[in-house]
Amino acid sequence: MKRRAFLSGSASLIGAAVASVFARESLAQSVAQSISEPAHDSMHGMQAMPGMAPASSAMPASAPLAAVDALPAGAPLAALRTLANERREPGHFRATLVAQPAARPLLAGQAPTPFWQYDASGPGDTTGPVIGPMLDLQEGDNVEITFVNRLAQPSTIHWHGLPVPPDQDGNPMNPVAPGEQRVYRFTLPAGSAGTYWYHPHPHMQSAEQVFRGLAGPIVVRAADDPLAAWPERHLFVSDLKLAADGTIPANGMMDWMNGREGQFVLLNGAREPLIEVARDERWRVWNGCNARYVQLAFDDGRAFAQVGTDGGLLGAPREGVTSLLLAPGERAELIVRAAPRGAPGAQVALVAAQYDRKKMAMSHGSLPATPTQKLATVRFLAAGAEAQAPQAALPRRLRPIAPLLATSAKQKTPRKTVVFSEAMDMHAMHQPGASALAMPRGMQFMVNGATWSPSRVTFASRRGEVETWAIENRSDMDHPFHLHGTQFQVLAREQGGTIVEESLLAWRDTVNVRPGETVHIATVQREAGDRMFHCHILEHEDLGMMGVVRVS
Ligand code: C2O
Ligand code: CU
Ligand code: CU
Repeated sequence: MKRRAFLSGSASLIGAAVASVFARESLAQSVAQSISEPAHDSMHGMQAMPGMAPASSAMPASAPLAAVDALPAGAPLAALRTLANERREPGHFRATLVAQPAARPLLAGQAPTPFWQYDASGPGDTTGPVIGPMLDLQEGDNVEITFVNRLAQPSTIHWHGLPVPPDQDGNPMNPVAPGEQRVYRFTLPAGSAGTYWYHPHPHMQSAEQVFRGLAGPIVVRAADDPLAAWPERHLFVSDLKLAADGTIPANGMMDWMNGREGQFVLLNGAREPLIEVARDERWRVWNGCNARYVQLAFDDGRAFAQVGTDGGLLGAPREGVTSLLLAPGERAELIVRAAPRGAPGAQVALVAAQYDRKKMAMSHGSLPATPTQKLATVRFLAAGAEAQAPQAALPRRLRPIAPLLATSAKQKTPRKTVVFSEAMDMHAMHQPGASALAMPRGMQFMVNGATWSPSRVTFASRRGEVETWAIENRSDMDHPFHLHGTQFQVLAREQGGTIVEESLLAWRDTVNVRPGETVHIATVQREAGDRMFHCHILEHEDLGMMGVVRVS
């Protein structure tokens, strides 16, 4: 009972506009009296609430979900599609991305599942993974992507993590209307090599567009990549909630509250594919889920090396890693080693291990931890079984990373504070038809006491000026913080008065913040314009847990 503290800060900020703000405990208690909820059921819990609209509404009562083994498993991991370059000259990349509906046969005996997906052009590709085609780019490239919106709602393409000009970054303030198109142009600077992704960012509709299939990977390569000789594998993790009739249901109340998690976690669009590792490999892993946390591990506890984060390589490999948390939106580069030469192979599972992000429940303070989910079967073959030449050792230095914040400059660095908070208004949630809206009433996820409005600027910053930001999570669940247009460095994590300095110097654009935690980062923006920052649980972003920094 004690863990769910009343959110005094947010209550005063909401003020008179909201009739009654309940702490989670009191909300949970009174709701628990009025409904019978299947215990701990994050999928169905709130749809059973009295006063919720019937199935005829825009947010229908939940249809039965497909069984967790309804999708086939065990096929070899599919390679991601790549987006073909229409230009021949080095240094130029030009292509078209069309967001459009495409139906894919998924469930036996059911009509094909309608997805929304990115395709190069022409009709939707219904054979490869639903993941958007990979943009395989080089530092220095002039990139020109024509985006065609064939959806029935506005959309944008956001280049998550890339240092592109603000007006090319697919901000919600720059929507592309249904049937329209626009060209995004940017040049990739030196030092930008890394693992990124693209996805829609329209006002209040990002979550739906991503869970219906709109997201794709980006790799930016450096000419002097020290790991260029390692065979590369791409693992794009996505999440799918599928009804038994093969359709993708709309978000329910619980999806909005905790962020949507489906019954399927997919790797390159498939359930539990098979990966065979015969040489040491470089893995790029994306968490492209709306809300699912991926605590990446092998179920036999074997170690791997981490060599990169969101914004590219680390200074040096981090050996002996047995589990690595990727919050929604985060990426990593790993070295996964084949079995030693002559040793017998092994078959293990790659998993998203149990993780407790303190999801809210309606009948208790919080839901239990998300249980371990299998991502893939991995067969480790003895090294050299398929390759003639033995592999070189992993370099001890990968690239230099300078601290953004010089120790001497700490005092005069501008400082900003981002506060994440939440408030649940039970009266609004109980109003007739509350769930018939595209967005549920009565749930607030806030940045500095307010939900996002296109007319408000949260912060002002100056181009080229290094700043420290403190990201404070004053809510009861984990929220992954994400900042556009730049890569930042985590300086320290503070919890209950204890400050732990970050030992890993790394470039990131997304960092998880635990309840009650404050994460300190150093960051700098290089171009004038408006940059978004937000929680990367996409439902929370849509509900307004987002702010703008105006750079001049
Ligand atoms: Cu990946 Cu503002 O988003
Ligand atoms: Cu982003
Ligand atoms: Cu959040």
